[in-house]
Amino acid sequence: MVRRWMLLTMALLACRLWAGDKPRFTASGELHFPAHYREWVFLSSGLGMTYGNSAARANANPSFTNVFVNPAAHKAFLATGRWPEGTMFVLEIRRSSSEGSINRGGAFQSRIAAIELEVKDSQRFPQGWAFFDFAGGEQPVKSTAAALGPKATCQPCHSANGAVENTFVQFYPTLLPVARKKGTLKAGFEAMAGAHAH
Ligand code: HEC
Repeated sequence: MVRRWMLLTMALLACRLWAGDKPRFTASGELHFPAHYREWVFLSSGLGMTYGNSAARANANPSFTNVFVNPAAHKAFLATGRWPEGTMFVLEIRRSSSEGSINRGGAFQSRIAAIELEVKDSQRFPQGWAFFDFAGGEQPVKSTAAALGPKATCQPCHSANGAVENTFVQFYPTLLPVARKKGTLKAGFEAMAGAHAH
């Protein structure tokens, strides 16, 4: 009897882990927020990364952008340098703080300013990838969200500037060498990839 319960518990646990690692959609096609993304693979944090005008660049209190990817997709990328169907990224944008507790210099991460997602599902989305805004900041993080429409700015910037497919592998230091080795960086990427190392 005890053993049957153990098996059942293990099966339920396996289901939960498995479900947590794949995009799940509502009947109307909205994406469920992956509540356990903090247990996924952490790729990197951008600090105050800006892409636009100098006003944004001068921000004295820059945000952190933490990037997570689901473990199954990460594993596939390590093997192939490509993103499989069902890849799911979370971009967690957090405000920076300083001079809290014993801290006197530098900055640490504080509350969530916004959460954005990106999913690869070629059967569901004509462009293969879709983008989602789950709010955060002044509003609570949403539990489901619809894919952003063609007017959103996400897709044009990601597809034009991402080093591998739609994604910014050039900013993920453990993945860039993998893409280089597997030859999956976009053509011409190395030529435009000059960076200043500090
Ligand atoms: C002007 C260019 C630009 C636009 C517009 C843009 N992004 Fe990004 N995005 C980036 C860059 C650069 C990164 C690299 C990570 C970082 O900022 O730390 C990134 C990373 C991401 C990631 C992590 C996975 C990846 O692709 O590398 C997600 C998820 C994401 N963005 C979602 C969005 C969503 C949703 C929108 C639209 C609401 C959006 N982005 C609009 C430039 C852009």
